[in-house]
Amino acid sequence: MKNSIKDKNILLGVTGGIAAYKSCDLSRKLMKEGAKINVVMTENAEKFVTALTFQYLTGNKVHTNMYDESESKISHIELADTSDLIIICPATASFISKYANGVADNLLLNILLASKADVIVCPAMNVNMYENKIVQENIKKLIKVGVQIIEPEKGELACGWVGKGKLADIDLIIEIVKKKYQKKTLKNESVLITAGATREYLDPVRFISNPSSGIMGQALGSEFKKRGAKVDIVAGHTDVNLNLFDHYTKVDSADEMKKIISKKLKSYSIVIKAAAVGDFKFKNKNKNKIKKDISPIVIEMEKNIDVLKFIGSRKTKNQILIGFSAETEKILVNSKKKIENKNLDFIVANDISKNGSGFGSDSNFTYLINSKNEIKKLGLKSKKYIAEKIADEVEKIRQD
Ligand SMILES: Cc1cc2nc3c(=O)[nH]c(=O)nc-3n(C[C@H](O)[C@H](O)[C@H](O)COP(=O)(O)O)c2cc1C
Repeated sequence: MKNSIKDKNILLGVTGGIAAYKSCDLSRKLMKEGAKINVVMTENAEKFVTALTFQYLTGNKVHTNMYDESESKISHIELADTSDLIIICPATASFISKYANGVADNLLLNILLASKADVIVCPAMNVNMYENKIVQENIKKLIKVGVQIIEPEKGELACGWVGKGKLADIDLIIEIVKKKYQKKTLKNESVLITAGATREYLDPVRFISNPSSGIMGQALGSEFKKRGAKVDIVAGHTDVNLNLFDHYTKVDSADEMKKIISKKLKSYSIVIKAAAVGDFKFKNKNKNKIKKDISPIVIEMEKNIDVLKFIGSRKTKNQILIGFSAETEKILVNSKKKIENKNLDFIVANDISKNGSGFGSDSNFTYLINSKNEIKKLGLKSKKYIAEKIADEVEKIRQD
């Protein structure tokens, strides 16, 4: 998928707050996403970070002065007209109040009044300043005219107070900017994602399971949602919040997962099975807790239903089915077999013998293998990155 921030002209406005230094990181990260960055600083911002810092970071001249003799063009109009997006980060209480009331006594405020670009404001200040009714009224005024506010976080503030006022996390700001330009390429798709670990109970308090965290399922859900798809999740036990999606059903066992899935299977255009479903279950589940003084104890197990194979056997013509395999040996051979056996469009083969890969970790060492036996080695990458690549593959299948 095309990186949507790529080649966007972003004007980064920096005002005179203690968090001004964090804007240096923001400028670099936006550039890494392919954006072109022009920095405009207020006079007071220069008391916290030098213009030279931003000039070296962005490779562009930093604008600070309204009446710049070295400029042949009227810089505030030029910058206002050529920017796709203006981000004020950090935005001081004073700046917000001036902007909300149409004051234009510095270059950045003039650009904002003259520009038709989208504007994002990231306030950062002492908690009492942020909660001050005048500041809040001014923030509401900005929201009313279409300015997007990225609220500050609660936390320990530079002034010693604890409360809401800390600049939002830079990575969150980047995510919000990316989302703004994300094309809804999968808006006609309805996706079912399974996630987490199933549990097979022996008695009311004992079960067999695995350490799957649900991080992969959550990353997939977020990625498909970003691209406009409707996302339903059916998950076993996880360590992550899955309530953010259109519909979330929590299950225990593999049988329960199969039952839930089979009810609505036909309504999904894409099914991604990222759950770690247990291969075995107890032959008999005891109604009461087994007494510990029984010894020796022999417990019989039997094979569980293969949920992925079941879905594959019901797959309709236009449905895309993606499976995951976790292998410690013969990764490619074993995974390829599963594509055919389970009627998959592609499989994400995870080499869990590699350090940093597997259950509960933030990354996986994977290969994407499709039904034509084409292999893409992704290597050790974050689950978020893997989710992006899977969504890219789905887009490709739909385009073919
Ligand atoms: C050390 C120091 C830190 C400051 N930090 C902040 C801040 O985080 N947020 C804020 O709204 N004002 C802060 N101020 C006050 C602003 O610098 C002041 O309101 C200034 O007029 C803002 O100018 P500008 O918005 O034109 O850049 C701070 C002042 C000092 C001396």
